Amino acid sequence: MASKQTNSKIPPDMAVGFIGAGRMAQAMARGFITTGVIKPGNILASDPDQRMLNFMQNDLGINITHSNREVVEKSDMVVLAVKPNVVSPVLQEVSPTVSKEKLVVSIAAGIPIGTIEKQLPDGTKVIRVMPNTPALVQAAASVLAPGQAVEDCDTELVTELLRCIGIAEPGSEKLLDAVTGLSGSGPAYAFTAIEALSDGGVKMGLPRDLAIKLAAQTLLGAAKMVLESGKHPGQLKDEVCSPGGTTIAAMHKLERGGFRASLIDAVEAATLKAKELGQS
Ligand SMILES: NC(=O)c1ccc[n+]([C@@H]2O[C@H](COP(=O)([O-])OP(=O)(O)OC[C@H]3O[C@@H](n4cnc5c(N)ncnc54)[C@H](OP(=O)(O)O)[C@@H]3O)[C@@H](O)[C@H]2O)c1
Repeated sequence: MASKQTNSKIPPDMAVGFIGAGRMAQAMARGFITTGVIKPGNILASDPDQRMLNFMQNDLGINITHSNREVVEKSDMVVLAVKPNVVSPVLQEVSPTVSKEKLVVSIAAGIPIGTIEKQLPDGTKVIRVMPNTPALVQAAASVLAPGQAVEDCDTELVTELLRCIGIAEPGSEKLLDAVTGLSGSGPAYAFTAIEALSDGGVKMGLPRDLAIKLAAQTLLGAAKMVLESGKHPGQLKDEVCSPGGTTIAAMHKLERGGFRASLIDAVEAATLKAKELGQS
């Protein structure tokens, strides 16, 4: 998780609003607050569900309202954190309160920037973000894409904010279907790998709890080594495969089973599905 940077792009009293106070909004707000980049008193969230608002207020110290328009009026940056099917009605509702100074950040999966821009006043700054579920444990992988009116400093600001909940990389909208196929859907592939590895452990005599813990920590540790060492994953794999050893014997089985091709196919299938859904 990133800590507060000295050359921060984030104004000290920046006001952030969340329309929708569900899981993603809570995760993002927690990240902003715990890293100290946004004060809880400068965050306002709206939601029809009072339980969500109570959590925001009681656990995070955030201001709450039932009015989406109030969120827009009082915020420099507004995060659209509602389900994709609610985005259009929300945009129609808040559009009269959106002005050019405000930054609108959408995390709604599959809603193109153009669709959002069309429903807001001309020149509105819109940034689309594709985060993933590990945002809930402050370990998200996010890619963000700027809309037409967005300036570099806006993209830098949102990138810095997203780094409070994991890694974040600026990109362009044409990458987002593939991002969905890799990191958006990727947690499901990793959960399945953890489950299958633990099945292997159980088959060979380990208790289930221990097997799941070992499998999960092994993926976490391997991922940390890739991110922190800067080494290519193939090199790290080679370093674990000693000649005539156990790991290379297992690698042979994985190759025979089409392990790599399955993962490539999975990312391709999810990307094509995201593209198809985006067009419909
Ligand atoms: N969860 C993830 O891992 C993930 C990953 C990538 C992207 N996303 C995107 O993030 C967005 C939010 O996902 P989430 O998992 O946080 O959903 P969520 O937990 O269901 O939160 C959405 C919240 O918005 C509220 N809401 C519904 N209509 C509203 C309205 N008109 N005005 C204000 N709030 C309204 C919902 O209330 P009700 O429940 O009462 O309807 C709910 O509390 C989605 O668009 C999703 O595609 C999520």
